[in-house]
Amino acid sequence: MPAKKHLRIFAVDGQPPLLRSAEIGDLENLREWKNANCRFFFHKDPINPEQQASWFQAFLDRTHDHMFIVECEGRAAGCMGIRRLEDAWEVYNVILGEAEFGRKGLMGRALKMMCRFAIEDWEWPVTLRVLKENPAVGWYLKNGFEKISEEEDHFYLDLNRLEFESPEMRVETEGEVR
Ligand SMILES: CC(C)(COP(=O)(O)OP(=O)(O)OC[C@H]1O[C@@H](n2cnc3c(N)ncnc32)[C@H](O)[C@@H]1OP(=O)(O)O)[C@@H](O)C(=O)NCCC(=O)NCCS
Repeated sequence: MPAKKHLRIFAVDGQPPLLRSAEIGDLENLREWKNANCRFFFHKDPINPEQQASWFQAFLDRTHDHMFIVECEGRAAGCMGIRRLEDAWEVYNVILGEAEFGRKGLMGRALKMMCRFAIEDWEWPVTLRVLKENPAVGWYLKNGFEKISEEEDHFYLDLNRLEFESPEMRVETEGEVR
């Protein structure tokens, strides 16, 4: 199994955020952020440290599954993930972790950068599932996604590739995720 590369994605205009690969030292943040926001997700049971650690071990073996820490001025503001499914990318685990970084456009910019990274890596649709009652539905629609279909409790959204714009950015790889 090839090692998972450690990635850093930053905008060439120098504006935040920086997206960097999540590592073992981020697990407690990831766990706390997820547990604090579980009402917005399909999986609602609290995650304990052992479960978080075993997720990370399995994650390390999935080459095309990326979890990013969204950083602003050197501080962790939140997280977001994107992974390859059979025939599409799927956005997942998008969370503003620290409220002070919220509602500034930071997370929206991070989402666009992550989607652009994925598309440039592999030319596939970018999709996600979101619970209908989640206010993030509107946020995704403003950030380039559109509704494709729905089930009883959730929508499927796809990135509108024709209208999609993201900051000019660079991707650096630096060692392995550990
Ligand atoms: C979804 C989520 C990540 C968005 O975080 P956020 O900090 O609000 O994201 P942004 O700052 O990009 O959002 C922009 C909002 O700030 C406002 N804003 C303020 N200043 C802004 C600026 N300079 N640029 C852009 N937007 C700005 C916008 O009006 C927008 O509000 P709106 O969505 O009501 O229109 C966050 O609400 C969250 O973590 N939710 C809980 C977890 C969740 O539901 N995740 C998705 C699961 S599928």
